[in-house]
Amino acid sequence: MRLDRLSIINFKNIESEDLSLSAGINCFVGDNGAGKTNILDAVHYLSMAKSMHTLADSQSVRHGEDGFVIDGRFTRDNSRPEQVVCSYTRRGGKTLKRNGKEYERLSEHVGTVPIVVVSPADSALISDSAEERRRYLNRFISQVDRTYLTALMRYSAALQERNKLLKTSPTEDILLIYDGMLATNADVIYRKRMETIEAMIPLVEEFYTVLSDKRETISMEYRSELQTASLSELLLASRQRDFVNEHTTSGVHRDDVIFCIGGHPLRKFGSQGQQKSFLVALKLAEYTLLAQHSGCKPILLLDDLFDKLDMRRVSQLLKLTHNPNFGQIFITDCNKHRLQQTLDEAEAEYQLFNITNGKAAL
Ligand SMILES: Nc1ncnc2c1ncn2[C@@H]1O[C@H](COP(=O)(O)OP(=O)(O)OP(=O)(O)O)[C@@H](O)[C@H]1O
Ligand SMILES: [Mg+2]
Repeated sequence: MRLDRLSIINFKNIESEDLSLSAGINCFVGDNGAGKTNILDAVHYLSMAKSMHTLADSQSVRHGEDGFVIDGRFTRDNSRPEQVVCSYTRRGGKTLKRNGKEYERLSEHVGTVPIVVVSPADSALISDSAEERRRYLNRFISQVDRTYLTALMRYSAALQERNKLLKTSPTEDILLIYDGMLATNADVIYRKRMETIEAMIPLVEEFYTVLSDKRETISMEYRSELQTASLSELLLASRQRDFVNEHTTSGVHRDDVIFCIGGHPLRKFGSQGQQKSFLVALKLAEYTLLAQHSGCKPILLLDDLFDKLDMRRVSQLLKLTHNPNFGQIFITDCNKHRLQQTLDEAEAEYQLFNITNGKAAL
């Protein structure tokens, strides 16, 4: 998938912009606060219909304006051009159109323009709670598998109902109905998570080895209570505890993924650069699997390329992406000289935009 042209109106600090983009690497350089990340976020809107940071859409409207418009012209691996327009007004809300036709539900668009983001905010995946890692997995797997998304929505709805019931004195029959719904959907979620993580592990290891120049080994492991018993059994066993706690204490809503370096937890024992390298390897693995599933190369956004990485690792990263398996890439950095030097060393071709006060110049 390739974004050939990007037009932006009144989006954050960008008043009006119309960019012709390269099919390969597009770089955006400029000072802190210039608007580099904002351009990547506009691209993200065209893929996911929302900001890459969980902001309310209203916060993305340029101060003092009524709404924003982001218009993208895409080409999908040599087929005919496509147009995606995402617009938002404070009064009318958000609309998303593909080739002039408005989507009824924004979620129908998810997966059409596959995208992978590497950003400084990814560190939350390591430092924050298991919920953050589950959210990441959910977002990723939902892009490639609708049955997963459906199971996830049904599971969440059943879980909410069961938690409400636990605060009352439900009959055995009613409780068993919800246990059944949870168990059926948990099964789908568990199997899909397991399958995805199994497929990711060798890829993450491989990418990390290249990034670290074989200096360190990492590992990743899926943890779920469903590895020990079926959810129906677990729910029966935890029934008393659930009544005391007034919520469901067993299930896939407690799953986690453990990241390790040299056999020790990455969160505690990994340096900042090692943690960042792990996250980059994880995202490149996600990229590879998304490409396999969607049948087209996702757009890769590398926000703040040098964030926590030394020159050596950045150049290894560029070497990894300088490969026919990768497609269009958007890179931001605040140091033009450093970025150009590293790209030149990697013998990569690129187009470079200088960003100042929300304006781009070649
Ligand atoms: N709704 C908005 N209206 C106007 N300006 C906004 C809005 N939201 C954010 N901004 C401005 O956008 C700028 C931040 O842009 P962005 O995050 O793209 O910077 P950046 O170039 O990526 O900087 P850094 O190098 O620090 O990451 C800030 O100056 C901020 O005030
Ligand atoms: Mg930025």
